[in-house]
Amino acid sequence: MQARIIVGGWHPALHRLEVQTLLEAAGIESEVEHPRVLRVDSDDLDVDIVDRCSSITRWLLGGGRVDHMDTEALLDTILAAPGPAPSESDDRQQSIAVRVENIDGGGVGISHSTLILELGARLASMGWVFDLQAPDYEFVVVCVGEEQAQHPEMEQLPRKAHILWGLSQPADSTSITWQERTGPMRPFFKPVGLDPRIARAMVNLAHPHIPDGRLALADPLCGTGGVLIEAALLGVHSYGSDLDEEMVEGTQMNLDWLWNEQDELAAVTIEVDDALDFTLDEPVPAFAFDPPYGRNSWQSEDGRELLLGTLTRCYENATDDARLITLLPWPAEHVAAMRAGKVVDMDEFHTYGTAWAEMRELIGNCGWTVLTTVPISVHGSLSRLLVVCERRR
Ligand SMILES: C[S@@+](CC[C@H](N)C(=O)[O-])C[C@H]1O[C@@H](n2cnc3c(N)ncnc32)[C@H](O)[C@@H]1O
Repeated sequence: MQARIIVGGWHPALHRLEVQTLLEAAGIESEVEHPRVLRVDSDDLDVDIVDRCSSITRWLLGGGRVDHMDTEALLDTILAAPGPAPSESDDRQQSIAVRVENIDGGGVGISHSTLILELGARLASMGWVFDLQAPDYEFVVVCVGEEQAQHPEMEQLPRKAHILWGLSQPADSTSITWQERTGPMRPFFKPVGLDPRIARAMVNLAHPHIPDGRLALADPLCGTGGVLIEAALLGVHSYGSDLDEEMVEGTQMNLDWLWNEQDELAAVTIEVDDALDFTLDEPVPAFAFDPPYGRNSWQSEDGRELLLGTLTRCYENATDDARLITLLPWPAEHVAAMRAGKVVDMDEFHTYGTAWAEMRELIGNCGWTVLTTVPISVHGSLSRLLVVCERRR
């Protein structure tokens, strides 16, 4: 059966990469239809992937896709198909709700109330009962528009307005929310704290192995614990360290708070240590960290030796197939030039005072091959470059 995944978040290219990494690990092939839409072959919704990912807003099973059209024509098209029947194997009657959602400015001229009413009537005639608050399933219509997301420079993809529909399941609402775990909401806050969705994407991109209780991820520059919190929530046993005692104590405060808020967390080991000198008890398959940076770090060599030394220590502590994700300071001019439609050579832009072409080589000399990079605009004068690496064999 075909299914479609709707990718949310403020940076479709980054979040799509995260979704594709999780799909690949699960052996599910995907095809990009739109910056926010992936088509996959799947008969079931993979609840584990949806729960792990920072950015899947919908996984629509069955259903279909049409170009933008008016409400009547859309209803006729959806109703012409058989529609999802409730499963007969369950003793209990299964409940459903109809949802209509607009993304990227879609849905112009589409009447949500008409769709909800008419599609609801069809589903009722098929034996579904309705529960608008906590349904077992949702029948979802997603109107996709043509507006550009925040990082249009990354996308050379079709953006034609269209409409998708299919059967979905409500997201798990038992976890502590993204909003509740942003930096300022945690007991120990410093402005360096990573946004939880970026930290989650970094953990997923680092590809920690299926949790089996062993140490699976390390962040040797853990700061306030942004990466470690997401690893713990994903059931990934992690190690974190920082040279600054205050940061390590603060991370512990944040983890204690998390433990109070949430059950079933993986273990986290933290200690004061130098990233240039750390040694783990066993090799680890995944690393995710963001080295210190400031507004002008991209043009100053300060911090370069710390980055390279940390990469080398990670290599020494890594399994053969390990992956590593890092976030480097990056000039805002790169993103600005791409947005202006200029042809840009990334190799000429600098991070830690070093042209990217040379930095990629230096990263290679530390034992890591760069697989992908994603520029992330933070604000007018600061960008970061997310770098995905795998260990050299
Ligand atoms: C950008 S912050 C990390 C932020 C973190 N990801 C978070 O979510 O809070 C970089 C951290 O590196 C630490 N650091 C700097 N030099 C270090 C070293 N040689 N060894 C270990 N940690 C170091 C700093 O104390 C700082 O907490």
